[in-house]
Amino acid sequence: MNIILIGAQGSGKGTQAEKLTSSLGVSHVASGDMFRKAFDEKTELGIKANAYLDRGELVPDDITVAMVLSRIKEPDCANGVLLDGFPRNIAQAQSLDEGLKETGRQIDVVIYLDVPREELLKRLSGRFICRANQHVYNLYANPPKVAGVCDLDGSELYQRSDDRGEAVQIRLDIFFNETIQLLDYYGSQQKLIEVNGNQDIDQVHTAILSQLNAFKQRKNKG
Ligand code: AP5
Ligand code: MG
Repeated sequence: MNIILIGAQGSGKGTQAEKLTSSLGVSHVASGDMFRKAFDEKTELGIKANAYLDRGELVPDDITVAMVLSRIKEPDCANGVLLDGFPRNIAQAQSLDEGLKETGRQIDVVIYLDVPREELLKRLSGRFICRANQHVYNLYANPPKVAGVCDLDGSELYQRSDDRGEAVQIRLDIFFNETIQLLDYYGSQQKLIEVNGNQDIDQVHTAILSQLNAFKQRKNKG
């Protein structure tokens, strides 16, 4: 099964993806995580992309599409992927459709995490991620057991540069002006599930699983 998680910055895509990949047996492909890892490794792609990330802008489509399509052709993605942060506009969605078609696959379902803007700002201001694997924490909703240290791998926690200052508003504006158009794109293909992301983390996870099951049943009948 190939799934897309769509949601504004701070809506909980990364948080829910960590839980869903193990329950669904699919690989987590997160474009933002890939860019941050490439920057940590000081690759050419990572250094080029980082200027866009810091400003809160989208990395150009040609760079992003090539990176994600090459990742989803790797063997561990053959049983299905959970795409987090990709696609973010119609052009990326069309390139994704074409890329999947080449390997006889398609997007099966798209999950939209709906969260109001004021809640997004609060979550981003309290977010910390870990250096080693980008596990996600929140000072208010999901704190680590030991301050500043990842529960899962013991690495240092840090605040993303794009969670501060002007970049936050730029990122949210891009989502609500541009990425949101994907809801019509996938809605018209009857692939869209809308989930209330403004509940606690476990409630959102349960809601996603139950709406996914209902979606599969409707598809099997239909
Ligand atoms: P990316 O890393 O994808 O960032 P984003 O889209 O801005 O999304 P976030 O990671 O901020 O939010 P999230 O939904 O994952 O929330 P999280 O689970 O962490 O992209 C970064 C940059 O890379 C982009 O700006 C762009 O430059 C570039 N890029 C990436 N993809 C691209 C593309 N396709 N095209 C072009 N450029 C691209 O949760 C947030 C916080 O809330 C956490 O602290 C968490 O603990 C907490 N939380 C989560 N759920 C809940 C809950 N239910 N209740 C309370 N708190 C919660
Ligand atoms: Mg994320």
